[in-house]
Amino acid sequence: MDLDKLMNKHLTRAFDPSKAIPEETLQKLLRFLRSTPTSTNIQPNHFYVLATAEGKERLVAHLGERFQDNSEKILNASHTIILTTRADLPDSHLEEVFAKETADGRFPDPAKRALWQSMTRDFLNLRNYGYKDVNHWMEKQTYMALGMTMMAAAELGVEAMPLEGFDPTSVDKGFKIREAGHTTTVLLALGYPDPARVYSDPISRFEADRLFTFV
Ligand SMILES: Cc1cc2nc3c(=O)[nH]c(=O)nc-3n(C[C@H](O)[C@H](O)[C@H](O)COP(=O)(O)O)c2cc1C
Repeated sequence: MDLDKLMNKHLTRAFDPSKAIPEETLQKLLRFLRSTPTSTNIQPNHFYVLATAEGKERLVAHLGERFQDNSEKILNASHTIILTTRADLPDSHLEEVFAKETADGRFPDPAKRALWQSMTRDFLNLRNYGYKDVNHWMEKQTYMALGMTMMAAAELGVEAMPLEGFDPTSVDKGFKIREAGHTTTVLLALGYPDPARVYSDPISRFEADRLFTFV
């Protein structure tokens, strides 16, 4: 990955519709996305991978009127991922996480496993009843998966464009996401840039002294 190049480039606003991500590359990216960590290993996500014209058109039809400027990006991208997050956190989900961890051999020592599970429950009680931010907390996990997947895409030579311009209620409806107990958090369009429409003007960010405090 060329970090110097990455630091100075714009996100991709225009994809080349003639270029598709090779299946092997896509599968590697999805394996990476599956591997991204979450706080307490809560894994609150489900990802809709739109690989067909039908899928992308359905998303565009449900973006919402004021977000139509994102339509072209999605239609010309090779793939778009809808990153969804659980709408609630029932105990049954936690039990599934614990069962999978046990099946995967994460805590072979039963005492350590019990301690981990009790610490997790404690932490979730704090989010639920103390901070009262369990949905926001789960969505923060989704954004970390988004960021890490953007970096993995760069490593694979794929351009990744995050999109917050959509109506979540409408997208949820279009893919029956609420019925699955989730809600749409953010979109990620993936593909290759249209070489005729790459921005050449400099990126604009605050200076380092505005951003960093060394103590
Ligand atoms: C999480 C996230 C969501 C974004 N959503 C959109 C979007 O819906 N539509 C769009 O055109 N740009 C979107 N952007 C692009 C930002 O507006 C852009 O990164 C910012 O203005 C800086 O521009 P640059 O990346 O070209 O330097 C998004 C960027 C991020 C990080």
